[in-house]
Order: sequence, then C-alpha cells, then structure tokens
Amino acid sequence: MKLRAIMAVLCVTPLMLSVSRAQAAESVAVLHWWTSGGESKAVGVLKDDMTKAGYKWNDFAVAGGGGAAAMTALKTQVISGNAPSAAQIKGPLIQEWAEQDVLVPIDSVAKSENWKASLPPAIDKLMQADGHYVAAPFSVHRVNWLYINKAALDKAGGKVPTTWPEFFAVADKMKAAGITPVAMGGQSWQELTLWEDVVLSQGADFYKKAIVDLDQKTLTSPQMMQAFDTVRKIQGYFDQGRTGRDWNLATAMVIRSNAGMQFMGDWAKGEFASAGKKSGADFICAPVPGTSNAYTFNVDSFVFFKQKGRDTATPGQLAMAKEIMNPAFQEQFSFYKGSIPVRLGAPMAKSDDCAKKSYNDEQVAIDSGGYVPSLAHGMAQSDAVAGAISDVVTKFMNSNQTSQDAVNALARAAKTK
Ligand code: BGC
Repeated sequence: MKLRAIMAVLCVTPLMLSVSRAQAAESVAVLHWWTSGGESKAVGVLKDDMTKAGYKWNDFAVAGGGGAAAMTALKTQVISGNAPSAAQIKGPLIQEWAEQDVLVPIDSVAKSENWKASLPPAIDKLMQADGHYVAAPFSVHRVNWLYINKAALDKAGGKVPTTWPEFFAVADKMKAAGITPVAMGGQSWQELTLWEDVVLSQGADFYKKAIVDLDQKTLTSPQMMQAFDTVRKIQGYFDQGRTGRDWNLATAMVIRSNAGMQFMGDWAKGEFASAGKKSGADFICAPVPGTSNAYTFNVDSFVFFKQKGRDTATPGQLAMAKEIMNPAFQEQFSFYKGSIPVRLGAPMAKSDDCAKKSYNDEQVAIDSGGYVPSLAHGMAQSDAVAGAISDVVTKFMNSNQTSQDAVNALARAAKTK
C-alpha cells in the first residue's frame, strides 16, 4: 500500500484539530539524528529559538550517524499516521518524499525571505519539488576533510599530507611512533565516505562521471581500480577495534591523541569544538590528499509533513522554516555543527580557520566545477543506487575481495533502478 493511500485512510477531521490547537501552544515534533556532543548543541539552538517563540519542542532524536536508523523510524511514523512536523531529510530524498504527497509547501516563507537569491542555485533547486519549496536548508558540510591531531603529527615528525605518497609517509611515521595512524568507524556510511574521498582524489571530473553520471566506462577504468587499491592500503593503518564503532568515537580517538588522523566530514569539527580543542593548535583540518581544489557538499535540511486534518503548513512549521534560514541562527548553528551557513552572505565572525577555509574553498570549487554532491551523504543519487554502491564498498572493505572484482560489482550496482 502506497504512503498516499495510508495517509488518506488515517485522515482526521479539520474541526477536531482546530479546537485543540486554539487551546494549547502548538507542539512541533522534530525527527533528526543529531545526538553527538556537537550535533546536540547545534540542534539545541533551534529548539531554544522555537521555544522562545512560544512553540513546544517535541524531540524525536534517533541516534545513528548518517541517519539510516532515523529514516527507518520516520517511515514507521508516517505509515502509522504520526508524521512529525519536521524531519531531517536531504538531497534527492526530498523529492522522493514529496512524490508521496505527504509534505507541505513552505512557499510563503521562501518567497517573502527571497531564498532564491540567498542560496547557491544547486541548493535552491534541491529544496523544491514540483515548483514548490518543501525543505529548509541549514548549512553546508564539506565531506572531503582529513582531521589530524597536531601533537601526534609533531611527535611523528610528519607534515600535513597533500598527496597519497605524503599521506602514507606520515601514516608510517605515526605507526613507528606507536600511534594508530587512522581512526575509523565501523558503519557502511563511514566506509562509503572514505571511498568517495579517494574517488574524488582522481579529480572532480572523474568523480562526476563516476558518481553523478554513473558512466560505465569510468566506473570500470584503471583509475577506479587504483581507487580501490588505495582504500585497501589505507585499511592497513586502522586499529583492530573498528567494528560497530560510531564516527564520533573515532573522532574522540583523534581528540584524545589515541589516533593520528580521521577521514570525516566537518561535523567531526563540532566534536573538536565541543571538547574545547582549537584548530591550528590542537588539530588540523586539511582537504583529503589530492582533493584541495574540490569540495564534496552535504547540505542538511528539514522537510515539513502534512499534519492531521490540514493540507497547508502550520504556524509552527512556517516559523521553523523561517528560523532555519535566519542568518544569525545559521551562524550559531554552524559554529556548533562544524559546517558553514548555507545562506550566502550570512555572518561568519564566530567561525574558526577551518570554516573560513571551507567557505573560500567552496567559492573556488563552485567557480571551477569542483563542487560535487556527496554520495555517502545522500546528495548524489537515489537511496536505491546509493545503497547498492554502498553494499559494494562495504563488501570490499570487509573481505579479501580484489579491486577487479569490486570494480565489476560496482558497474553492476550502478545499473540499479
Ligand atoms: C549529516 C550530518 C551529521 C552526520 C553524522 C551526515 O549525513 O548530514 O548532519 O552530523 O551525518 O551523523
């Protein structure tokens, strides 16, 4: 049974609801997966702003980096007729939910606040379905970062790597100095994040052909074989305990000098900030080797669900959409989250060096064609295609499969409908 049909069966009369709404402050139920230290502080800013504006915040936080568990919980809620007011949905999944006819447009806010002129065109487009704004964007995360513990780098006597040979030289020095070179977690989205970083190091055009266009020739090329070989080599620098490890626990290994480096998007920087660590002095953020001119973007957004008995957004939903795009909110949110405001021209006075570098690199990448959507973070492909590719990478990283076999499997996965 389609979501649409289920929603129709579960419909409640408008009269019943308008009575209860008039009596109590509107409660906004919000489903998200922001549960780590930095993430909780960031979403706390929105919660406080909504509470100050007179709304009751009903928190549905579903732990699990990358959001797979949250997406499963969301489906259950919608199918059982309890859709939240807002949910953390991003990329092409916004359109997939809109097609189910369960979202409400927020055009009135987007138009009066002139979102079109305030967002990079690619992101403005992602927020719309069928000509209507249905999602509000928070911030831009850059995915292709390498975080390095400064003391570990100094102890090993290495320098910040800009190429893979330099990276392996630093990793060897860390190993020799008794430091685990690479902190890695154990979930498939973390493996896919590393893999797409390595694919990007073959060039932004290569990445686009492989990951955005799913071009068979590129997917089976010698460069793709080389990407799998590089991932295999990096695996040699993990510790033994990564099975099931969450991303923020891997970040904590770098924060506490238990490991030297981590490949992760800049939500990891929210953890460093939350632990009182300073970029430059305590840790270094560097683009993944070979990717300094490119930028894999990951834009978080909320969509707004139809509430029982109405087809239009509630006052609370419109207020939330407006607040999410408020420049001062975006500055504070990003400060905790590790991202940069998605709103063009939003203030960045509180930003650290890494955020400033992210902003500058973003502008350069947009102008030079190096601004590409992250596959691992739901920006590049449908859920089905991203899931099929993710399975290939996970199998490769958890077996002795050869790069040739992985490339063949990748080419098949890319044909998923
Ligand atoms: C989300 C981030 C989140 C990260 C870890 C990403 O997919 O976009 O907001 O911090 O997953 O959970």
